[in-house]
Amino acid sequence: MRKPARRGPLQIKGELVNSGSRSDARATKPVIGGRVGARTELDGRSVILLTANNYLGLAGDDEVIERSCAAARQYGSGSTLNPPLATTPLHEQLCATLAAFHGADSALLFNSCTSANVAVACTLVGKGDRIFSDRLNHASIIDGCRLSAAETQIYNNRDLDHLERLLAQPHDGARLVITDGIFSMEGDAADLPAMIAICRRHGATLVVDESHAAGVTGPGGRGTAAAQGCVGDIDLYTGTLSKAFGGFAGGYVAGRADLVRRLHDDGRFYMFTTAITPASAAGALTAIEMVMRDDGLVRRLAENTARLRAGLKALGLRILGEDHPITPILVGDEDKAREFGRVLLQEGVYIGAICFPIVPRGEARLRAQPSAAHSAADIDEAVAAIGRAARAVGLIDNAAAG
Ligand SMILES: Cc1ncc(COP(=O)(O)O)c(C=O)c1O
Repeated sequence: MRKPARRGPLQIKGELVNSGSRSDARATKPVIGGRVGARTELDGRSVILLTANNYLGLAGDDEVIERSCAAARQYGSGSTLNPPLATTPLHEQLCATLAAFHGADSALLFNSCTSANVAVACTLVGKGDRIFSDRLNHASIIDGCRLSAAETQIYNNRDLDHLERLLAQPHDGARLVITDGIFSMEGDAADLPAMIAICRRHGATLVVDESHAAGVTGPGGRGTAAAQGCVGDIDLYTGTLSKAFGGFAGGYVAGRADLVRRLHDDGRFYMFTTAITPASAAGALTAIEMVMRDDGLVRRLAENTARLRAGLKALGLRILGEDHPITPILVGDEDKAREFGRVLLQEGVYIGAICFPIVPRGEARLRAQPSAAHSAADIDEAVAAIGRAARAVGLIDNAAAG
């Protein structure tokens, strides 16, 4: 039996930047009153929704919703069985399609990417092994590291010299390097070709979380690895169905057959939990097939992203990342970021304020995320509203905000 969760370097104060959410947000969070899309009813009022993970707009797509409903009628509302006991053709087809999407040997479904990340850290390594995890990895990777019996070493965000120094320390056990493909609070990418080379030099397995990249970046939306030309060199991908692929609760791993097999045979977060619903499997499958058939939505998302980023830069706002739809507008002060968000909502645009402890103190931001569902006019209207709100809270001067 594995030892209880190890209290390692992840506990050090200041490193837990991704590990929680503010409870005061609960009191003020708006209530959604209709189908999510470019514009959505929030608290009884239609606003431009510029903060969702609905990258391709498929959470509101008629065909995705229809096939999801049809699967519920055919198979029932839930799976009602743990995955090792039985499956449906929809679940099997979704696995095969996800494997094909990532150019992988095989794939396995989990009921969230959170579960997939925890399963990877707890199943593929154990006592006497080491995990090397980027400081800004998603909370579920951090939690997977905490639950794993392996020792976790954290390297500074995208600092591959640091990673290599840690890997170079003598060690006999297995080594697992895990990174977000796209960092969720910054919108920037891991340097995967360099990481592949480092992992090969040190005999480490490389796991890449493509939650914000699959269906979003790279040619045909095939993700960070595709954008960087190294699809076949990643040992294992983790990903979610909850973002570009229709917004369904569900996650997956895709990659080398031996690793996927181990997760299937030994993954506690796979074995001991109910499979995703047939409705989710059918809807996500529909969404992925649409992306694989036609890259029109991926291209529209890229156009909207470029339009939004150019508009925000012209306003004189500080934005992070380069070309990913995650477009953080840096504010700094937390109260000011919340006020910015409140004023912006009054202006008819909703963007979530991200504050400590999700990001370090003093780095509060509004994280804008355009979708393929937005029209160019929606983006222009949002940029104008952001300008008015930024001027109202003193983030930019009157002349800049126009
Ligand atoms: C990088 C990353 N990994 C994993 C997840 C969790 O995905 P899920 O909602 O499927 O648990 C998220 C969600 O925000 C994420 O940004």
